[in-house]
Amino acid sequence: MLKLSALVLLIGAFIFYSFFIYTGGTETAASGINDSAMNGKELWQQYNCTSCHQIYGLGGYLGPDLTNIVNKKGRDYAAAFIKSGVKAMPVFNLPENEVTALIDYLEYVGTTGSFPNRDVVIDEYGSFHIPVKSN
Ligand code: HEC
Repeated sequence: MLKLSALVLLIGAFIFYSFFIYTGGTETAASGINDSAMNGKELWQQYNCTSCHQIYGLGGYLGPDLTNIVNKKGRDYAAAFIKSGVKAMPVFNLPENEVTALIDYLEYVGTTGSFPNRDVVIDEYGSFHIPVKSN
């Protein structure tokens, strides 16, 4: 009898816990990212911005890291690049709401931290190290 109630208790706890895990909306709830920024994240993947740009140093290396682009240079600056392209960056001809969503996403990314977080040296292969100070 005791074994049975222990089993029922454990199964009950498992179902209860699973319910919260699978219905809790982990990503949006945990990270505080809003809907527009979430949409921007999907556009970021859809247009493959990451093939040329990095976030926290991860991504392609044709263009610069964009982790802090919006909080350092502002929304208008980012919008100008996204709308007009430049040199190796294509003109995407995006509708205004997608430009806004992408900028919301980049602004959100900027609130999560900064990159590079210390005086690191990034080498031509994309790896980085903290230089050893002499004297
Ligand atoms: C084919 C490569 C490529 C793709 C794809 C690309 N970019 Fe770029 N992007 C660049 C390059 C190269 C630069 C730097 C241009 C310069 O400074 O002259 C740049 C610059 C930028 C800048 C300004 C960065 C700065 O520090 O001045 C922003 C913002 C930007 N891109 C956003 C985006 C977004 C958003 C996407 C996806 C919709 C995207 N890029 C896709 C190549 C790319």
